[in-house]
Amino acid sequence: MKPTIFSGVQPTGIPTLGNYIGAMKGFVDLQHDYDATYCIVNQHALTVPKDPAKLKKQTLQLAALYLALGIDPNVANIFVQSDVPAHSQAAWMVMCMTGLGELERMTQFKDKAAKQESVGAGLLVYPPLMVADIILYDAQYVPVGDDQKQHIELTRNFVDRFNARFGDDILIKPEAIFPKAGSRVKSLQDPLSKMSKSDKNEKSFILLLDEPKAITKKIKGAVTDSLGIVKYDEENQPGVANLLNIFSSLSGRTIEDLVEDYGDTGYGRFKGDLAELVVDTLAPIQERYQKLLVSDDLRDILHTGAQRANEKASVTLARMEKAMGIGY
Ligand code: TYM
Repeated sequence: MKPTIFSGVQPTGIPTLGNYIGAMKGFVDLQHDYDATYCIVNQHALTVPKDPAKLKKQTLQLAALYLALGIDPNVANIFVQSDVPAHSQAAWMVMCMTGLGELERMTQFKDKAAKQESVGAGLLVYPPLMVADIILYDAQYVPVGDDQKQHIELTRNFVDRFNARFGDDILIKPEAIFPKAGSRVKSLQDPLSKMSKSDKNEKSFILLLDEPKAITKKIKGAVTDSLGIVKYDEENQPGVANLLNIFSSLSGRTIEDLVEDYGDTGYGRFKGDLAELVVDTLAPIQERYQKLLVSDDLRDILHTGAQRANEKASVTLARMEKAMGIGY
């Protein structure tokens, strides 16, 4: 039997190159070697206010993008979180066994709460829902970017606690899988912060559906330094290190090989070649995406995915409920 993996992405708009390199590229690369389940986590998206029509549209857009990236629905299961009620049912049990202090310590909670005028409880209990997502599929591995590390740690601690209290091996303890290069893709304008689509400066991120011209402009305009040497030095040359990570991830070439190639030839050729690589990587994805978005198959694929996910999740949920004494 293949090892199991689970991961999810929020349908909060067109994903960035950071989402792709940090997680979604791995979804595609890993699907054949693992028993893979990929979720569109629309309930997570409710933790900050959302326009309902937009949320619906972005849910389908993300499904089309999953397929356009190369996730094969006959190989990996893709589905929408709200189609599987076990997620919120399991999340309740997770919440009841998670300390308030643990949740208040989550850095993503602190960052996001600081940006909201009023903070909904959902933002605080977002990690237990993520724990539920993962454990319901008996996931052994979770491909994610570096910013999810703390949430995976919380999941591991929860599983230990649950199994210690109710019986060994009821739940599977997952492990994160981070990509070799680009587990934290940085902003193109401030290489000390994470690339994020919620950044006010549009030059700081590349969206997977950006036009070639815009991509080239953003990469050529990426903040680097005045040293003019292509070298991997995160501390002194964070901008160049970030571009090297992106280059390495998309080309499959090692950082050493790239450094040897570009070394002291300045940043012009390096950025030019990287821009071309990003454009060439995204062009076929964009082409497939446009076709998939209007295809009738999209909803069918999600319905089938939900059926399969429900079958699997309900078994784990029953195991948890039995352990905790839910039922009579
Ligand atoms: P989300 O939707 O914010 O991001 C999706 C994935 O993209 C990764 N990512 C990045 N990786 C590298 N560099 C970046 N700049 C960058 N920005 C985002 C994220 O680490 C993530 O892997 N809580 C999750 C969604 C989720 C989930 C789950 C993930 C819900 N349930 C269960 C795994 C398993 C989130 O908000 O990801």
